Amino acid sequence: MNGFPLNSQPSPGHNRARTMPTSSSVPGLLLLCFTLLSSFHSSVARPHYHRLSAQDVATVEAALPARHHAKAKTTFFEVDRPLRPPRGSSGPCSTLLLSHSFALTLTKPPVTAAYSPPSCLSGGRDVSLAVLEWRADCHGVQYDRIFGVWLGGAELLRGSTAEPRPGGVTWSVHKDVTKYASLLAAGNATLAVYLGNLIDDTYNGVYYANLTLHLYFRRKAAQSPPAASAPAPADLILPVSRSLPLDDGLWFVVQNATDVESTRVAVPPNAYRAVLEVYVSSHYADEFWYMNTPDQNGPFREVTVQLDGDVVGAVWPFPVIYTGGINPLIWRPITSIGSFNLPTYDIELTPFLGRLLDSKEHEVGFAVTNAQNSWYVNANLHLWLDPKASTTAGGLVSYDAPKLAGSITSHSLDGIDGEYRATASRNISATGWVSSSRGNITTTFAQRLSFANTNVVSSNGSAQAINQTIDAHTEVGGGAAYAQQLHHSFPLYIFLGGNSSGTSSQRLMRRVEIGFVESRSGGAGMGTSTLRNEQVAEAEVVLQDDQVAGASWRMHQVYNYGASNGGCYLRNVTSVGYDVLFDHDDASCGGTGRR
Ligand SMILES: *[C@@H]1O[C@H](CO)[C@@H](O)[C@H](O)[C@H]1NC(C)=O
Ligand SMILES: *[C@@H]1O[C@H](CO)[C@@H](O)[C@H](O)[C@H]1NC(C)=O
Ligand SMILES: *[C@@H]1O[C@H](CO)[C@@H](O)[C@H](O)[C@H]1NC(C)=O
Ligand SMILES: *[C@@H]1O[C@H](CO)[C@@H](O)[C@H](O)[C@H]1NC(C)=O
Ligand SMILES: *[C@@H]1O[C@H](CO)[C@@H](O)[C@H](O)[C@H]1NC(C)=O
Ligand SMILES: *[C@@H]1O[C@H](CO)[C@@H](O)[C@H](O)[C@H]1NC(C)=O
Ligand SMILES: *[C@@H]1O[C@H](CO)[C@@H](O)[C@H](O)[C@H]1NC(C)=O
Ligand SMILES: *[C@@H]1O[C@H](CO)[C@@H](O)[C@H](O)[C@H]1NC(C)=O
Ligand SMILES: *[C@@H]1O[C@H](CO)[C@@H](O)[C@H](O)[C@H]1NC(C)=O
Repeated sequence: MNGFPLNSQPSPGHNRARTMPTSSSVPGLLLLCFTLLSSFHSSVARPHYHRLSAQDVATVEAALPARHHAKAKTTFFEVDRPLRPPRGSSGPCSTLLLSHSFALTLTKPPVTAAYSPPSCLSGGRDVSLAVLEWRADCHGVQYDRIFGVWLGGAELLRGSTAEPRPGGVTWSVHKDVTKYASLLAAGNATLAVYLGNLIDDTYNGVYYANLTLHLYFRRKAAQSPPAASAPAPADLILPVSRSLPLDDGLWFVVQNATDVESTRVAVPPNAYRAVLEVYVSSHYADEFWYMNTPDQNGPFREVTVQLDGDVVGAVWPFPVIYTGGINPLIWRPITSIGSFNLPTYDIELTPFLGRLLDSKEHEVGFAVTNAQNSWYVNANLHLWLDPKASTTAGGLVSYDAPKLAGSITSHSLDGIDGEYRATASRNISATGWVSSSRGNITTTFAQRLSFANTNVVSSNGSAQAINQTIDAHTEVGGGAAYAQQLHHSFPLYIFLGGNSSGTSSQRLMRRVEIGFVESRSGGAGMGTSTLRNEQVAEAEVVLQDDQVAGASWRMHQVYNYGASNGGCYLRNVTSVGYDVLFDHDDASCGGTGRR
């Protein structure tokens, strides 16, 4: 390939097929006061190069100084805190669950393996930590792909693959799956992995992956009880996903703003707590939803959870940027937050148990406000069952879910440059009681969510800056031992710029600042924890007469976690190009404990 396209079209990336279905232009719920000059939004839509094609990246690679032409595999990594079993645990007992090469797998059935609980799990041993390890490599040319891992229909892991380099890449994910202990110990089930990859003359990268389960056990009797901050895993986990056979992942595919995807589940009559854990990822026209212009339904998205048609919770997702997003070089070797291991979101359904304890099937559905094609959404329903009673009883005391509030306003400075601003907010709350052998306990679930996004086009249309914040307060209150307060803050700033005013030399600049900030505080001795995980990254590609003449990029990340029960982890890492220049980590909790 000779020229370097300034306006690389959005790549297949995570696309399901080569043809992109036309996106709906139905105005979203959010577009309440919608004033817009058409010349403005067509210009805002113009800087569309949010993805470089894998071929573009190969061209950049070839233009790098020789020392970067690694023959050996490069390791990419996502910064996360290491998983350590509680003191005195035995193990690990490791089992290879699946080993597969994903070549032409798009629109083919998921790869499956028969799962039976590892023999070390027999005898009702108490799991203190379960870790699912995904380890994969790939070489050649390939896009990033989304994949999911399901056990008995319940999702255990969702991730984006790394984009390979000519000399190959490797990466691994270690995910704490202790909360799925009941699923791991239950009887035989089907393990399914879907990774939709495409192989052709150009995109020849095959993903080789191994999936391994590592189990650690609590030693009998003598050992201290589990840490107060680790509530006991659910007794039963029901999948809220699509069933095999499928030529796709088990996720529902939400295609537009009116699409509601649902299934029916029946809850055992002796449940006393229910939590819906939601997995979500955005693709195609909505991969970069936070940059979407008003004619693309604007930049606000939320996943609503519906129980028998009522909105009982909302997920305002963290904007995961896949490894191929914005400029793939930015995410090498340190990948973007959440990209190898996407976050999940819990909706407390306990207040609604009164409705669900009738042993009948109830409909659990998902919609995405303002959605364009496509969102992959499914969930796991975690249920805690009363060991001493065959039935429990419950009642909904109050439920309030007013409509989403929000607006988009815009103004144009001169027809090309301009800005628009979108805001949204939502409150949801529900209170209900559940009477079991543990007593008659009232639980409140309350969400207070707010969103703001500005999109500014400047420099005669050649620069665009997006600044977004999501704030999500979630409270589980009442008399329950699992009461907790959770605050999420997801700041995101993206700058896309270039100087391309008719000279033979051009620069393409990208800057991303993104953060996953979380604080939790629990009732009943659960303690508090805080996490600030923040990245600042920049990339610059220099073109000479439309040929790549050079590229540079850098990343700085600080991951700072502290918990009142003593756990902590600090990582401070800087990379320039493929080189990690500075990498400091500390799990000693300093002198003062947590920060
Ligand atoms: C998967 O496991 C096999 C067998 O142990 C090993 O040869 C292969 O290198 C592993 N692949 C990856 C990607 O770790
Ligand atoms: C579970 O699978 C194992 C191995 O495939 C088999 O030996 C066993 O009989 C199965 N158990 C049940 C309950 O189906
Ligand atoms: C939205 O998606 C659903 C599910 O695919 C489809 O049935 C419906 O026709 C779509 N609606 C619009 C307005 O495109
Ligand atoms: C949500 O509740 C807070 C106070 O709890 C209130 O200030 C805010 O206006 C409410 N927002 C909406 C959209 O109802
Ligand atoms: C549980 O408590 C609620 C409110 O305090 C009450 O309305 C309900 O009748 C009680 N249920 C039982 C079974 O005692
Ligand atoms: C701004 O861009 C337009 C078209 O893209 C061009 O005609 C005009 O000359 C540019 N103005 C300046 C000041 O560069
Ligand atoms: C983004 O907006 C927030 C809130 O208005 C502001 O505090 C922050 O400085 C902005 N970030 C950048 C990089 O401009
Ligand atoms: C654009 O940036 C390149 C590289 O820094 C520089 O050589 C060139 O002069 C710049 N062009 C303009 C028009 O500013
Ligand atoms: C990270 O390391 C750099 C270089 O030593 C230092 O300047 C910075 O203060 C550190 N940041 C944190 C949060 O520790």
